[in-house]
Amino acid sequence: RVGRPLVVAIDGPSGSGKSSVSKEVARRLRVAYLDTGAMYRAVTWDCLDRGLDLTDSALVEAAARALDLELSTSADHESVAVRGHDVTAEIREPRISQSVSAVATNLGVRNELIRRQRALIAVHGRRMVVEGRDITTVVARDAEVRLLLTASEEARMRRRGIQLGGTQTAEDLHQQVIERDLKDSTVASFSQAADGVYTVDSSDLDFEETVEAVLAVVHAAVAAP
Ligand code: DC
Repeated sequence: RVGRPLVVAIDGPSGSGKSSVSKEVARRLRVAYLDTGAMYRAVTWDCLDRGLDLTDSALVEAAARALDLELSTSADHESVAVRGHDVTAEIREPRISQSVSAVATNLGVRNELIRRQRALIAVHGRRMVVEGRDITTVVARDAEVRLLLTASEEARMRRRGIQLGGTQTAEDLHQQVIERDLKDSTVASFSQAADGVYTVDSSDLDFEETVEAVLAVVHAAVAAP
């Protein structure tokens, strides 16, 4: 199947294991990988670095349009650079996570990033795993495989707790997971699979099992007449 278009669109909430699973699926399929969340984070980093008011939607939109972004599309190598600054680590910092919703709810920003995401998919010959929140419904509605990766609130809180080193109280974790969902759900609905979108629930699966479940969906979808 080398050379055939194979866009795998994966949406899901944070804590569903989406990023690590998407990367591994891209590796095994030997296709490119695009983390669209990193693009929203990069715009946020750029705006904060320039001291822009994130509530000024026209300015933030203009920043997104002018964004000088270099983003790795290899699952083996994570790198994000804005105006030549390596921001790979910085865009994961809490100050970015806390501000990114303000940028992701800006429709002008979304239009610009969706345009760039579609261009990147095309440049890679439509052989790419693309993960985010609106990939199955907006960015790559025409993907060969569209998949929603979900996990129960409990499973997502558990994983988030592990990510944070187990220093958070259950209440704090709950707050974070729920708040994040609420903020994110204002931009794209990913809590329920749209028509023609497969669902993989990772609540009771470990990493390898989740990767295999996603690959099984890919193979079934591609084999379907
Ligand atoms: O997946 P993440 O945590 O890196 O995403 C960062 C933010 O960007 C999060 O608030 C959701 C938003 N996002 C989005 O609105 N659309 C996407 N396709 C990807 C991410």
